[in-house]
Amino acid sequence: MDKIRARIIGTGRGVPEKILTNADLEKLVDTSDEWITTRTGIKERRIASENEALSDFATIAAKNALEMAQVKPEELDLIILGTVTMDQPIPASACFVQHNLGATNAAAFDFQAGCTGFIYGLSIADQYIRAGSAKKILLIGGEILTKVTDWQDRTTCVLFGDGCGAVVIYAEKGERGILSTSIHSDGSMADFIAMTGGGSRIPTSHQTVDQRLHYIKMKGNETFKVAVRRIESACRESLELAQIPAEGVRWFIPHQANTRIINAVAERLGWPEDRLYINIDRYGNTSAGSIPIGLDEVVRDGKVKADDILLFSAFGAGLTWGSSVVRW
Ligand code: UT7
Repeated sequence: MDKIRARIIGTGRGVPEKILTNADLEKLVDTSDEWITTRTGIKERRIASENEALSDFATIAAKNALEMAQVKPEELDLIILGTVTMDQPIPASACFVQHNLGATNAAAFDFQAGCTGFIYGLSIADQYIRAGSAKKILLIGGEILTKVTDWQDRTTCVLFGDGCGAVVIYAEKGERGILSTSIHSDGSMADFIAMTGGGSRIPTSHQTVDQRLHYIKMKGNETFKVAVRRIESACRESLELAQIPAEGVRWFIPHQANTRIINAVAERLGWPEDRLYINIDRYGNTSAGSIPIGLDEVVRDGKVKADDILLFSAFGAGLTWGSSVVRW
């Protein structure tokens, strides 16, 4: 008898119109297009304007994904949103999206796994679907990182961008859908990527603002060193769980933190360039948004065929990392 699987039946993205180029950044901090391009692969990123917030783009991404899936908002059982840049600390941004869509029958919550948000979300959705607790789930990953970026810190402000991606996941019998997920975390490296102010440890005060604790800080070099190994091991693990050989992967759609990380992982797993999806040059690092934005581009460009094997993987704050194999 065929198993129930969680199949992605619609994708969408919602990104700001405004573009910030490396040349624009050269005017803000002591950096250069040459440094940013060679060290990261980024040429430009999307940036939300003053009156735009996460749920605005999450809602656009969701509407696009629902339209492709031909699913009405009222049919959704669950809306889950992976982000570290909610509209406001309370309530969950997923509830704003639920209201915007009119998804009156859906429970909605946010969860946080840094840049690994989309992979964690696939894992959550997969459990709900296989347990029979939900039939139609909207999973959104996205960030408005530029609102928590320190524009005086050249080591981080050149990296981040804004945007959301969404998928509609449907319970279906058969071989297509999520074949495996593997998720991990190691809190001993929590200080590698962190925003320390504004929580219950160091509540917001004049002092936290003066000390710029309301911005993201990253130990980029330390993070880089662990990223490649952890992404590689997560990819191998999820492929093994799915019983798919590395050469069976049609598209490797990784989190877009740095082209050097992506290329190093691809080299270790033996994937040629035409199996990699890279769009960091146009979006920068959109954290939980990067994989679903990339997936939506690949799908809408007609580059994915039925039964193609897709591999997603990510690494980020927590530290967290993970990978997932999907048969399209
Ligand atoms: O998405 C979540 C997970 N995040 C990641 O996986 C990020 C992983 N880390 C990285 O991608 C890289 O470490 C960065 C892109 C963040 C930095 O690249 P790097 O090659 O590791 O540079 P570095 O931090 O070792 O800095 C090299 C030099 C330093 O100067 P000195 O000390 O060698 O004189 C920095 O001060 O580059 C300097 N530098 C810059 N120069 C121009 C740092 N930022 C900049 C900048 N422009 N924006």
